[in-house]
Amino acid sequence: MIFALGMLVSPSAQGLLGSFARTIRSVVRLRSTVGRVVLLAWMALGCHALAAVADTTWLDEMDLSRSKHAAGHLGRDKPLSIAGKTYQRGVATHGKSTIWIEPNGADRFTATVGVDDGAEKKPAVQFRVFVDGKKAFDSGAMKYGQAAKPVDVSLSGAKVVLLLVSDAGDGARHDLGNWADAKLEYSGTKPSTVAGPLPREEAVILTPKPGPAPRINGPRIYGARPGNPFLYRIPTQGERPITFAAEGLPASLKLDATTGIITGTTPKRGDYPITFTAKNSHGQTTRAFKLVSGDTLALTPSMGWNHWYAHYHHVSDKLMREAADVMISSGMADVGYEYVNIDDCWMNRVKSDDPMQVGPFRDSSGNILPNKHFPDMKQLTDYIHGKGLKAGIYTSPGPLTCAGFAGAYQHEAADAKQFADWGFDFLKYDWCHYRYVAEQETGPQLARFKKPYQLMGDLLKNQKRDMVFNLCQYGMLHVWTWGAEVGGNSWRTAGDLGFELDRVFEVALANAKHREYQKPGAWNDPDYIQIGFVGDAHSQAEPKPCPLTPTEQYSYMSLWALSASPLIYSGDMGKLDPFTLNVLCNPEVIDINQDPLGQCGRVIPCGEDLFVMIKDLEDGSKAIGLANAGELAAEVVAKWSDIDIQGKQLVRDVWRQHDLGTADGEYRAQVPRRGVVLLRLSPSQTP
Ligand code: GLA
Repeated sequence: MIFALGMLVSPSAQGLLGSFARTIRSVVRLRSTVGRVVLLAWMALGCHALAAVADTTWLDEMDLSRSKHAAGHLGRDKPLSIAGKTYQRGVATHGKSTIWIEPNGADRFTATVGVDDGAEKKPAVQFRVFVDGKKAFDSGAMKYGQAAKPVDVSLSGAKVVLLLVSDAGDGARHDLGNWADAKLEYSGTKPSTVAGPLPREEAVILTPKPGPAPRINGPRIYGARPGNPFLYRIPTQGERPITFAAEGLPASLKLDATTGIITGTTPKRGDYPITFTAKNSHGQTTRAFKLVSGDTLALTPSMGWNHWYAHYHHVSDKLMREAADVMISSGMADVGYEYVNIDDCWMNRVKSDDPMQVGPFRDSSGNILPNKHFPDMKQLTDYIHGKGLKAGIYTSPGPLTCAGFAGAYQHEAADAKQFADWGFDFLKYDWCHYRYVAEQETGPQLARFKKPYQLMGDLLKNQKRDMVFNLCQYGMLHVWTWGAEVGGNSWRTAGDLGFELDRVFEVALANAKHREYQKPGAWNDPDYIQIGFVGDAHSQAEPKPCPLTPTEQYSYMSLWALSASPLIYSGDMGKLDPFTLNVLCNPEVIDINQDPLGQCGRVIPCGEDLFVMIKDLEDGSKAIGLANAGELAAEVVAKWSDIDIQGKQLVRDVWRQHDLGTADGEYRAQVPRRGVVLLRLSPSQTP
């Protein structure tokens, strides 16, 4: 029995139980009073020792791959060192670091903390331990060279522990922090770092289901080039059948009253105010829409889907058609998503595991050839257009694309024409292998970097087809300052977000720094919305549930809405679940993104990791985000004086689509970890 009990406890406790059992057996054999007294005394002592017994797990032996910017000391070539003292065990962190632990009944966490002696810029660092959201240890600002501080935190009854290292107000450069000799004492299940989205959270659907009556969504302003083919599907929620009408529609355009799809030829230059009407058995609604026939496309940020983060090099005609089908059947098109965009890998390459992707790059006349997964590009775009949606394609100005497929180098004119002839409405132009071309050229770097985009920009403008031009060169040479000048409608402001999904706040904040360069027709692009099922960017494996918490997913969409960033979803359209659709498809959130002023919100910092983002909207109201980029819930206050608002405001919760009452002077809210409370403030009519 004692042995069986021993199986349930830790190895060191098993050893103690074993010797306990052996002693009982030998002492009981004495059958003497002395023996019994000894036995009882030993048992009392032994039981006490047994109760106090605990195992130790070192932080450096836990799975740190789940943590941010932390590496087990054992993986480093030098021991940790604080103020001249070295430590054989521990965890080194770099920059802001988070380690989430499920203590599983552990009793204590102990460590010795301080700045590593190897930190070149002699930074200050702060160490904090939070137990179930409450601060249990705070080192305060610790300077380089300062003696280490001991940490001893009781974990009794704790569910989750956060070890947080942050900069101590001097910026996060070269912040090397050490959790030296860090360990947890436990009896029972071994503590572990938390796997998956952190911390665990229930996925709550905030967006109310659309009612059966019609509701027209989508942009209020729309640019198209005179004389080119026109296509627009009026995004409308509500029970079908719906009957559509469009008052003020130019004569060169025709509306299909049952589908709401407008086709024809864009009329001559000018502004055309149109009123859309949608009617079904539950009601009728109208919405103003302004068609601007001129030079500028994408007067509001592009909305659609791109295959990259769902299918990588497995893309095919079939997947693209299915995505178009789902864009309609899921209701995404009813809130404004319209582009169905192929990314890399539709062409041929020299070598591939997939023989369908190997073949000549071009035909004898120099025309680019799609690989065998795309038997007929024109038929594919016809299929997409038939649904009232638009089609996008990708290439590189280099000889090869990022994934090593045929690029456009020295065939730019032929390719631009081919894309137009095939019927594409959008081109993503991805730098990648053009690097080698630019390196060979002489002259100022800026001119060399602009050149391929200017070339393609001019070519696209001259096609008899509207093609939105999306620059992808990861923000090099401040592309936001010249992207519009070379004909770009949007430009990526950073590298691939798929590689740093846990940094959506930081990426949105960096993107917002370039807000002044953004305007209708010319958008900063912090990259795709990667929620739902997405394939890991490193392994390019089959799509799996997004690693962000539900709150982070709402924040992602809120920040993209406040930034007027292109809303291009890049997850598996075949695996859209109700939660993901609710994040993607709230028309009030999308209205903020699509607002005709096209403003990217201003950021007003208001505490460590806290900020308010405020975006002026065309109707005089303001969208604001109360944002908490930190690891713990915090109160965020939007003060009217800081955000340039006067008087009493009607406050609307945009995600829940309901009014919260009025506020004057300020609005404050408790914002969860990595959360954004998204509100719309309109001047209140009541005195
Ligand atoms: C680059 C781009 C991505 C994607 C891939 C395709 O990394 O930034 O968005 O297009 O290339 O290879």
